[in-house]
Amino acid sequence: MAKTVVIVVGTRGIKCSFHSLIALLFAFVIISVLLARESEWVVKARAMKKLSQCDLFSGKWVFDNESYPLYKEQECRFMWDEFACQKFGREDLNYQNWRWQPHQCDLPRFKATALLERLRGKRLVFVGDSLNRDQWVSMVCLVESAIPPTLKSKKINGSLVTFKAHEYNASIDFYWSPLLVESNSDDPVSHRLPDRIVRIKAIEKHARHWTDADILVFNSYLWWRRPIMKLLWGSFESPDHIIKEVEMLRSYEMGLKTWSDWLDIHVNHTRTQLFFMSMSPTHLWGEEWGRPKTDNCYNETMPISKEGHWGSGSDIRMMRIAEAAIDELRSRGLKVQMLNITQLSEYRKEAHPSTHRRQWVPLTEEQLSNPTSYADCVHWCLPGVPDVWNELLYAYIFYFS
Ligand SMILES: *[C@@H]1O[C@H](CO)[C@@H](O)[C@H](O)[C@H]1NC(C)=O
Ligand SMILES: *[C@@H]1O[C@H](CO)[C@@H](O)[C@H](O)[C@H]1NC(C)=O
Ligand SMILES: *[C@@H]1O[C@H](CO)[C@@H](O)[C@H](O)[C@H]1NC(C)=O
Ligand SMILES: *[C@@H]1O[C@H](CO)[C@@H](O)[C@H](O)[C@H]1NC(C)=O
Ligand SMILES: *[C@@H]1O[C@H](CO)[C@@H](O)[C@H](O)[C@H]1NC(C)=O
Ligand SMILES: *[C@@H]1O[C@H](CO)[C@@H](O)[C@H](O)[C@H]1NC(C)=O
Repeated sequence: MAKTVVIVVGTRGIKCSFHSLIALLFAFVIISVLLARESEWVVKARAMKKLSQCDLFSGKWVFDNESYPLYKEQECRFMWDEFACQKFGREDLNYQNWRWQPHQCDLPRFKATALLERLRGKRLVFVGDSLNRDQWVSMVCLVESAIPPTLKSKKINGSLVTFKAHEYNASIDFYWSPLLVESNSDDPVSHRLPDRIVRIKAIEKHARHWTDADILVFNSYLWWRRPIMKLLWGSFESPDHIIKEVEMLRSYEMGLKTWSDWLDIHVNHTRTQLFFMSMSPTHLWGEEWGRPKTDNCYNETMPISKEGHWGSGSDIRMMRIAEAAIDELRSRGLKVQMLNITQLSEYRKEAHPSTHRRQWVPLTEEQLSNPTSYADCVHWCLPGVPDVWNELLYAYIFYFS
């Protein structure tokens, strides 16, 4: 009897411990899943924290032909001939293969569908000059491969170019206004006039086309670069308008004041994300990187490796003026993020179109015999440097807001 009882108890004991073993196992599995999730989350949060504390603009270029270019020039249906260097005969294509490596962290990977999802029902507008258009074309090329042919379109209406991703009801636009404020250079096609006149207090004619945007990316630099600007008060048509010659730095400051006053009053402070691209450098003087005086970016195939290289074409005083305008806006409760692309682009003397782009006017014999004379050392080939500007913009849109 006693034996049976013992056995019964024993069986129960075994059953019991079997159950508790299963329970224990179960708990163990749940806890490890939770722990794994937790650590994944912690890792993600840490990466994000690290990223948002990282100076993305301090770093170096690394040759990486595995991950770059991010798209192919001939496959982008919205490419512009001013930036299509391969199409216009450039043979060394290494300029497409450089990755920007910040010293303290990695740039997040550009995901076209993630950006389109972010832009669902929204409008992203690039406002500025042809360098901003360079960046806009890059952005369109970066996202368009993720959209089937019938679900995207481009429309030009005066100064405004609209790229639309129909499925997402998202637009990525470019608006031509090289000085941000009004000027006699506002025609998107014929704006090369000998005498530049800036209507320094007026921006409304332009701004009404972009004030409602959700994300705005501005630039304005090169068009201000002359010693004296002609400023106009009143309207171009009015017979009693006033024109005065004003020193350039003062003019730039006044133009940005008009711009920032408009932003402060007219854009929705909570809804709108605002960015200002710092100066895009030029490579017009070869002596700055150890070439003869008469050379420029023509025939260059390698980036500058000297850390901190800074060309005389990038006017730090103008960068400070833009910073001051942005700081002042911040004190009024409107945040504009400056994307400091000057230093990183300074290194890329080989990434300009040089002679490999569409020419608007036929070249003369004299020019053809001296390619340096007509090389474009201002804009950038695509794919290329502006793709990295957009990767930085992407990082800021997602991780720094
Ligand atoms: C821009 O970035 C470079 C490189 O990190 C740095 O030297 C420079 O001070 C920065 N300029 C501004 C205005 O932040
Ligand atoms: C990348 O560059 C290396 C060295 O120039 C070359 O050997 C390799 O074939 C290239 N790979 C690709 C995918 O182009
Ligand atoms: C499409 O996006 C625009 C903003 O760009 C918005 O005004 C409009 O309501 C959206 N339409 C639909 C159908 O979601
Ligand atoms: C072009 O833009 C103007 C506003 O500036 C608008 O009135 C006009 O309808 C637009 N045209 C087209 C074809 O979209
Ligand atoms: C600004 O945008 C927010 C979010 O879309 C909205 O709730 C608010 O009404 C807008 N403010 C104004 C003044 O339009
Ligand atoms: C361009 O560079 C190549 C290779 O470095 C050189 O052979 C050629 O002479 C250069 N052309 C000019 C016009 O400087």
